[in-house]
Amino acid sequence: MQVEEIPSSFTDPRRGPFVDRFRTALRSPDIAILDVGAGRRPTIPAEWRPSGTHYVGLDIAGDELAVAEPESYDEVVIGDIGSHVPALDGRFDLIVSWQVLEHVEDLQASVENTHRYLRPGGRMVAMLSGSYAVFALLARVIPYEIRMRAMTRFLGVEPGTRFETHYNKCTYRALDALLGTWTGHEVVPLYCGADYFRPWPWVERTYVAYEHWLVRTKRVNLATHYLIVGDR
Ligand SMILES: C[S@@+](CC[C@H](N)C(=O)[O-])C[C@H]1O[C@@H](n2cnc3c(N)ncnc32)[C@H](O)[C@@H]1O
Repeated sequence: MQVEEIPSSFTDPRRGPFVDRFRTALRSPDIAILDVGAGRRPTIPAEWRPSGTHYVGLDIAGDELAVAEPESYDEVVIGDIGSHVPALDGRFDLIVSWQVLEHVEDLQASVENTHRYLRPGGRMVAMLSGSYAVFALLARVIPYEIRMRAMTRFLGVEPGTRFETHYNKCTYRALDALLGTWTGHEVVPLYCGADYFRPWPWVERTYVAYEHWLVRTKRVNLATHYLIVGDR
């Protein structure tokens, strides 16, 4: 597939800006890509990858990687992104991660490891949920089992497909500081948490008004998600 054929709009409003941050990297053949927390579904589908790509899936859960489609990964690494693996140092042109960094216990160590794993000139692009999103605050007070049962019942979430979250340093200020030493970086706050309240229309309406207020008043530390980019 030519890079021009990669979709530019997606149903999920987070996906377009995320893909735009690495679209040009997919023009070069023979690149090495690391997908952090790739699990059962690689972030970059096999048909989008340029010829000669070496695509590595890293995940703490080997059983998640094992159920991915057969052509998903050229290599898998089972491990915690927070634990340094010297064999990965300086190997990658691009590192991507979709909805994983809110699950890690030590965000600083995880981000530092992505920097080590990039080649000079390489780029890291990640989407993660924010520490102060309403759903993140609820996750802190409602035990995991109860949350999972509620999400399965009201939102149709498949049991066993949600992972424990830590939301360590998942705020605008903390992310901006963590990436401050990189050659270049960007932290983009996004506000898109209404789906969690879909089963209760009046709660959803109130919540959407709250999100509009967050945007208007630039409460970047209360964003529901962050798109982060770091250039080594
Ligand atoms: C919400 S899933 C996202 C999976 C995949 N990126 C996707 O878009 O479908 C989170 C994934 O992160 C993995 N994970 C959680 N903590 C991790 C860590 N510390 N290091 C590496 N992977 C981790 C989980 O095993 C799981 O596969």
